[in-house]
Amino acid sequence: MTHPSSLSYGRQWVNDDDIAAVCEVLRGDWLTQGPLVERFEQALAEYLGVGHVVVFASGTAALHGAFYAAGLKHGDRVLTSPLTFAATANAALYVGADPVFADIDYGTLCLDPLKADRKLAETPRVVKAIVPVSYAGYPFDITPFMIMARENGAILIEDACHAIGGSRENFRGDVKKIGFDADMTAFSFHPVKNITTGEGGAVATNISRFARRLQLFRSHGITRNHAEFKDVHAGPWHSEMRVLGYNYRLSEIHCALGLSQLKRLDSFVERRREIAGLYRQLLSGVRGVYQPPAATGHAYHLFPIRVPAEDRLPLFNHLAARDITPQVHYRPVHLQPYYRERFGYKTGDFPEAESFYDGALSLPMYPSLTDEDVEHVATGIREYFENI
Ligand SMILES: Cc1ncc(COP(=O)(O)O)c(C=O)c1O
Repeated sequence: MTHPSSLSYGRQWVNDDDIAAVCEVLRGDWLTQGPLVERFEQALAEYLGVGHVVVFASGTAALHGAFYAAGLKHGDRVLTSPLTFAATANAALYVGADPVFADIDYGTLCLDPLKADRKLAETPRVVKAIVPVSYAGYPFDITPFMIMARENGAILIEDACHAIGGSRENFRGDVKKIGFDADMTAFSFHPVKNITTGEGGAVATNISRFARRLQLFRSHGITRNHAEFKDVHAGPWHSEMRVLGYNYRLSEIHCALGLSQLKRLDSFVERRREIAGLYRQLLSGVRGVYQPPAATGHAYHLFPIRVPAEDRLPLFNHLAARDITPQVHYRPVHLQPYYRERFGYKTGDFPEAESFYDGALSLPMYPSLTDEDVEHVATGIREYFENI
């Protein structure tokens, strides 16, 4: 495996089979709206063990679709974690809803169910969707959120953009792939994610009415299904726009790549878990390094360590000098200037997320990393802390 000279935090792994699959589409009749969309959706549904998957042009579009399908509208509220990519909260704004946040649990780095419950009790307008994020691929316990959603008449939407290929044990004691438990689950296929289609995303659901709304939303709100027509069927060309949708389609080219990548998803995740194990071993006992929470079923999209805040930038620079470029996930959403200015958020509102962010550093984590690469990163970190 040849590497770029620098070790970044994430990277796709495209092989000759992937390239052949894409070339076959380019030589064929359908570049978009062809048979591979449904094939990719079926393959994902089978892999996840769910009734329906609807693919989208990105993870952000998938979240937008899920919020639309959940019936969110102007003035509704969406409860999520501040430790996420801006897109989780932005997608709520797209449908006119207001995102509200509850802090993370430092033990999981995911939305804290107790704080989420408290937030629901104190929020004046009704929260219509609860959106926990499986941050870094961590399979947080979803049962408290299922109960909370049911008790509050809210829809549970998991942002699992980090977590495809992960699994969790549910309250019945069954181990299910992430994507099975929530009312809807959003995934991303951006190149740094566990599989890629270039850009792309998907929503998984076991609820048929959500699946249909997602399909309509993805393609202009237009239907060709006779059973859904309001007007007289005028001829074979007849179609009807029933709701306001978007062009959020995923092309045949993307779906061919996705189908090919999906075959290797389990091996990718397995390698991510090995790499996490190696980091844990090599970094154990390094003073100043707080390792991310471990769990069976973790999908390890990221390996975010936390170091003392004053060491983060010097450590970043020390690693950069060794051709290693970590990344920071995430500046909490409520501290982004847009959210501060629009909603009046300030430092101190969600202290756990803020404290994690202050020292967070995501180390290189992708399946084509070699053991030597991982040792190179760990040695850089050890070296830094031994010399301060
Ligand atoms: C937690 C989370 N949600 C949503 C998204 C949006 O996905 P995409 O980049 O495919 O639009 C991302 C992507 O980085 C993400 O990490």
